[in-house]
Amino acid sequence: MKDFAGKVAFITGGASGAGLGQAKVFSEAGCKVVIADIRQDHLDEALAYFKKQKNAKVHGINLDITDKKAYAAAADEVEKVFGSPPQLLFNTAGVNAFGPAEASTYEDFEWIINVDLMGVIYGMVTFVPRMIKAGKGGHICAVSSMSGLMAGPTVAPYGTAKAGVIHLMEAYWMALKPYGIGVTCLCPGGIKTNIAEASYTRPGKLENTGYNTNDKTIEFMRHHYSFGIDPVELAEMLKKGIEDEVLLVLPFPNPEPMLRQVGERLANYCSVAGMKRQAELDEKRQEERRKNPMPGLEGAYEAGWGNAREDLTWVRKSDKFKKKE
Ligand code: NAI
Repeated sequence: MKDFAGKVAFITGGASGAGLGQAKVFSEAGCKVVIADIRQDHLDEALAYFKKQKNAKVHGINLDITDKKAYAAAADEVEKVFGSPPQLLFNTAGVNAFGPAEASTYEDFEWIINVDLMGVIYGMVTFVPRMIKAGKGGHICAVSSMSGLMAGPTVAPYGTAKAGVIHLMEAYWMALKPYGIGVTCLCPGGIKTNIAEASYTRPGKLENTGYNTNDKTIEFMRHHYSFGIDPVELAEMLKKGIEDEVLLVLPFPNPEPMLRQVGERLANYCSVAGMKRQAELDEKRQEERRKNPMPGLEGAYEAGWGNAREDLTWVRKSDKFKKKE
């Protein structure tokens, strides 16, 4: 898709961070934009912003993407307000929480998988038939993450959901070609957003976490994400990906070697010699990271980030960010 003028764009999580960046970029490109978000304060702030922009056509819907019924009602509302289903769908809303895989509770998995994977699935099941029946083609995006490509011991629920999103998008990309609907999956690293506050929207019935989440870890996350890419810049890269009809957008200057490393890792896991090779590679990369730490990771160890809840005494504390004596 190259011409965005007059198209209806539906953006989940559109009231903050990466989704708000998309709303700004695609509204600027002439789209009629729907921002759907669970946080009314984020919606109010975003709508106040767009009210001040000349010619911006932006509609807000308070939606929890894990609620199928509410999702269908939101889709009806889009057709009522803008006269057709969206031609552009952005499955962007997401949450995260980090801690040792072995400390994860049912509720850690349920919350994160419900929002980050099932929420995207509900978006697809709600909108894809409507888009096909409307016969106008279109483009669908989802925001996965580098965590969907690289496993880690403290990102089990999040990485699982994000890996699922990549697979889901590839499957739909194959299936939707005959309907003139393109698919693009964005896999960012850090983005400068409000995701440090993700626990604020965690449902009460799923509050039982095995992870150390408190004001200190939230503050550390805020600091960490402040070093991320600007959401508008990221949305511009996604727009280019849509225009070029590429399936994967990795917002880095040279993403191909990173993806080759993913393939190499999986191939290495298949043999004894490969496992040894991978262990050596991991050690080398860890040493490089110790020498040149990513900005924004200082303070992680002191904040207890990535560790288990204090009462889970059987879980080993992570020494990942501890300075070498
Ligand atoms: P953000 O917190 O600034 O924005 C996410 C928005 O989604 C928030 O306004 C939140 O209220 C909304 N949301 C959360 N749960 C929802 C639900 N159940 N229904 C509807 N809306 C809901 O965070 P950010 O970073 O902009 O997140 C957007 C996407 O980017 C997520 O999928 C996240 O996993 C992904 N991502 C973020 C990275 C980062 O460094 N911030 C890195 C890689 C991927």
